[in-house]
Amino acid sequence: ERGGYPHFMLKEIMEQPDVWSDCLLGRIQGDRVVPEQIGLTPEYLQRVKHIQIIAAGTAYHAGLIGKSLIESLARIPVNVDVASEFRYAHPVMEPDTMVIAISQSGETADTLACLRLARELGHFTFSITNTVGSTAARESDAVAYTLAGPEIAVASTKAYTTQILVLTLIALALADIHGHPRPDLVRGLLQLPLLGHQVLDVMEPVKDMAERLASGHDVFYIGRGRDYALAMEGQLKIKEISYLHAEAYPAGELKHGTLALIEENTPVVVIMTERDVADKTVSNILEVKARGAEVWGIVDSSLPVGLPIDHRIDVAVDLPELSPVLAAIPLQLLAYYTAVARGEDVDQPRNLAKSVTVE
Ligand code: M6R
Repeated sequence: ERGGYPHFMLKEIMEQPDVWSDCLLGRIQGDRVVPEQIGLTPEYLQRVKHIQIIAAGTAYHAGLIGKSLIESLARIPVNVDVASEFRYAHPVMEPDTMVIAISQSGETADTLACLRLARELGHFTFSITNTVGSTAARESDAVAYTLAGPEIAVASTKAYTTQILVLTLIALALADIHGHPRPDLVRGLLQLPLLGHQVLDVMEPVKDMAERLASGHDVFYIGRGRDYALAMEGQLKIKEISYLHAEAYPAGELKHGTLALIEENTPVVVIMTERDVADKTVSNILEVKARGAEVWGIVDSSLPVGLPIDHRIDVAVDLPELSPVLAAIPLQLLAYYTAVARGEDVDQPRNLAKSVTVE
């Protein structure tokens, strides 16, 4: 049942390119996303003026990438909140706010409570879930399935990347309807499965990196924009299965405190797929290098050689907006191999349940 892999997590990481094809199938026609295929109508999308995303854990991290994509492509403002916070925060939402709940299981108690709250307040509710017939799916006005297939490992991988894909489809559908069509990105989506296989083929160096992390105590992840959202997911993944101390920071924020923790040989993983701000991140790399950090870069392969990093893992980024799912792969594998090297129970980490159905 693990398809010849030693753990479900590795199987689920490896099957991502194929699962992406399933997730995209039938949802794109020519240069356009078909709104009905993601549970929405053009008439409704036309009316959306604000978006509120709610989710927990990894799904929250997908939501942060969704915010960046929807805001930059469709120019519609998006808030993202952790469900356990949102439900008690007396939230203020504008009329015509679309509320999007993201949940692999569709059963996370806090996320469901937010959906119910949003309905009571009279908002249109939309769920992105992997589980057909789940409570989130049944209790929402509309639903888009991630179609990732069953995810068994506690650490979410393929559900996360397909959540990002569905959010990308929503961003592109909104962008089209609100007058900012991006046919290049719509077509680019269809190339992702192929690019995903190419990324998986060159992941050998991640094992060396994992060996190094496994013998240490902590690791920092930094990035800007969507790369920061990826950094947050990278640190959660490694924490939950390898029990290493990990922290994620916006690259530009380090000097406001965290830099104090960077010492000789502290491992730092920098994610650099946002070309517009690459030079800014380079200056942050120099700051950690000056304190002796050992720096691994997960970088857009079009960035020049000679970056001030110690180890480079290239991700072939054609269109930066579509790169998060590709850059997620080395982060997932890094967590996986680190946990394996430390002898941990990868699929069933301590203290965690696959689905958190109690508050
Ligand atoms: O089923 P959900 O997507 O609502 O679950 C949310 C989180 O509990 C979940 O993503 C959790 O953070 C994962 N174990 C992360 O790998």
